[in-house]
Amino acid sequence: MATLLSISSSIFGDQGNTSQLAGEFVARWQAQNPQGSVVHRDVGSNPLPHLDSSRVGAFFTPAEQRSAEQQAVVAQSDALIAELNNADAIVIGLPMYNFGVPSQFKAWIDHVARAGVTFKYTDTGPVGLLADKPVIVFAARGGLYANTPNDHQEPFMRQFLGFIGLNDVRFVYAEGVNMGDEPKAKALAGARNAMDAVLAAVQAA
Ligand SMILES: Cc1cc2nc3c(=O)[nH]c(=O)nc-3n(C[C@H](O)[C@H](O)[C@H](O)COP(=O)(O)O)c2cc1C
Repeated sequence: MATLLSISSSIFGDQGNTSQLAGEFVARWQAQNPQGSVVHRDVGSNPLPHLDSSRVGAFFTPAEQRSAEQQAVVAQSDALIAELNNADAIVIGLPMYNFGVPSQFKAWIDHVARAGVTFKYTDTGPVGLLADKPVIVFAARGGLYANTPNDHQEPFMRQFLGFIGLNDVRFVYAEGVNMGDEPKAKALAGARNAMDAVLAAVQAA
């Protein structure tokens, strides 16, 4: 049975453009995978704590020496990583806020980047430990950045996802959503039109 992990990070919950696009993708995926299951992780509406020295200290403490508090911290991270491991495909709703990923999404990254668990260092450099699987990113922006040097999100996302082993990454953009009603409608329609091709690629993977 196939599993789709849907990660949303808009501060506007289900009303966010990225949440709506990711939600439509999930509905289309479900129509093609009626026996499949979908796991929702909404870090915009249910933010994770930011990493601090005690949380990262829990990660670095050997399992048998962890306090109860440290075990709870690691259990939360382990649960997020299990969601990644158990998924056959991952869809991410990724708003651009102040030129980067939402801080809530970065907090999620900080909980799933775990040495020895999702990546390891070797003599030839870091190696991702997740099995590769398709990742679709719905990226909405008020302005226009895609395929320009001003798009810091896309290279950052590709670098991070590749670092943990996820290299099959597709971006679907909805750009210019704050440039007026017409550009917004066009941007959202363009993203919706791109969904079928992306879904076909996911099904074929
Ligand atoms: C706090 C905040 C910061 C934003 N910063 C940017 C930005 O740096 N560049 C941009 O093009 N749009 C920016 N926008 C517009 C968002 O990218 C756009 O509204 C997008 O739809 C957000 O995704 P969401 O609707 O899923 O939350 C910002 C919006 C908010 C609320």
